[in-house]
Amino acid sequence: MTTRTDICGLDFGTSNSEIGIVRDGEPVLVDVEEGRKKIPTTIFFDNDSRHDLFGEAAIERFLEGHSGRMMWAIKSVLGTAIQGGATMIRGKRVSFEQIITRILGNLKQKGDAAAGVELRSVVLGRPVHFNDDDPRLDRDAESILRRAAAQAGFEEIEVELEPVAAGIEFETGLEREQLGLVVDIGGGTSDFSVIRLTPPSGHASAGRRDRVLSVAGIHIGGTDFDRLLSVDRFMPELGLGSSYLDHQGQTLEMPQWVFHDLASWLRINFIYENRMIDGIYTIVDRNKLENRRLARLGRVLGGHYGHTLARTIEAAKIELSDRQVVEVPLDLVEPRLALSITRRELESAIAAHLEQIERVLIQAVDDSGVAAPDIAVVFFTGGGSLLPDVRQRVGRLMPQAEQIDTDQFGGIARGLTIEAQRLFG
Ligand SMILES: Nc1ncnc2c1ncn2[C@@H]1O[C@H](COP(=O)(O)OP(=O)(O)OP(=O)(O)O)[C@@H](O)[C@H]1O
Ligand SMILES: [Mg+2]
Repeated sequence: MTTRTDICGLDFGTSNSEIGIVRDGEPVLVDVEEGRKKIPTTIFFDNDSRHDLFGEAAIERFLEGHSGRMMWAIKSVLGTAIQGGATMIRGKRVSFEQIITRILGNLKQKGDAAAGVELRSVVLGRPVHFNDDDPRLDRDAESILRRAAAQAGFEEIEVELEPVAAGIEFETGLEREQLGLVVDIGGGTSDFSVIRLTPPSGHASAGRRDRVLSVAGIHIGGTDFDRLLSVDRFMPELGLGSSYLDHQGQTLEMPQWVFHDLASWLRINFIYENRMIDGIYTIVDRNKLENRRLARLGRVLGGHYGHTLARTIEAAKIELSDRQVVEVPLDLVEPRLALSITRRELESAIAAHLEQIERVLIQAVDDSGVAAPDIAVVFFTGGGSLLPDVRQRVGRLMPQAEQIDTDQFGGIARGLTIEAQRLFG
């Protein structure tokens, strides 16, 4: 094994990020925030202190009501048509690439401190697809990620697919060869890989190409589930689908964009950059006395409560993995307002998306060339894999396979670090 200590594996996730280094020849995850091995992929550009905060610290500062710019799920811009663009921060245009650079820079700094040396070489994870349909946008997304890593100070940069990295991590504990399916449901993407899992001692004889039999992925993940649940169950309470009277007394349907943006982690901020927002404020002002729902919308927009609500919805979704019904307090929106959401409602809101995910899983198995019953184990990783509906669907498709849970949040970074040892050692 390598003796280099200036190498690392970095999992830049839509929701959470992790970094692993090598200590005494072993991959270890770094404490990235107050003793925790994962940090929310967030950044808050604080107007008052002019400091940038990351992770939970950023969220806390933002929720305290400080003025500034909060960015959530920035990885979601990668693969989209706006990925080369910028957003306004403290009156200046800052490119998305620069924002990603700042986030990677923070992770590197934590890694440097833990390693006691400046980390020079990194294996970055990437989803199977940044964009499901457009190869050019997909390639550009990886280039942006690589450039951001270089600007953050890494000199040598390699990239590995996230589900393959998860497989590499799973292999370390194996004593004999097994056919396995990796199921990684993250915040932004769902990725799969069928791997001939081989104990590390067998790696010399079986190259990567012999081991990774197939990969497949789709740009759907936990942040989409939050959005869909919000649009189905919550946005109607703010006026989605309701009508209003315009200044000539005509009844019109509420514009939908503002609700869809409010329900989307990435787009909440963009509402305030949208020229059409003044029109929404006008509608709200004219109608808030008669239409209680629009009064709520006015409160949410005026108070910049979009992220707080998205967090509430996400928390409800997560709780529904453990119980059948949750009560969601919404006092912020209106005193004593609360919403009760059932697991069945969540499942129906996301059913079409889970079906798409299921089709991609089936495709991964088909492409691997092995018969589904020969796959002995399914390894789950990524926070979204904790959804009971995901387990049941996989269980129905592959009843013979053993379902194994590993570290939901750190497995990929550890796999990337093992890959760094192999590549840079
Ligand atoms: N118990 C749970 N049930 C359902 N979803 C959960 C649970 N715990 C976490 N999640 C969801 O998992 C997602 C985050 O998972 P993870 O940290 O693996 O994603 P990521 O690696 O940041 O994203 P990606 O790999 O797609 O870029 C979030 O959408 C979160 O709400
Ligand atoms: Mg992930």
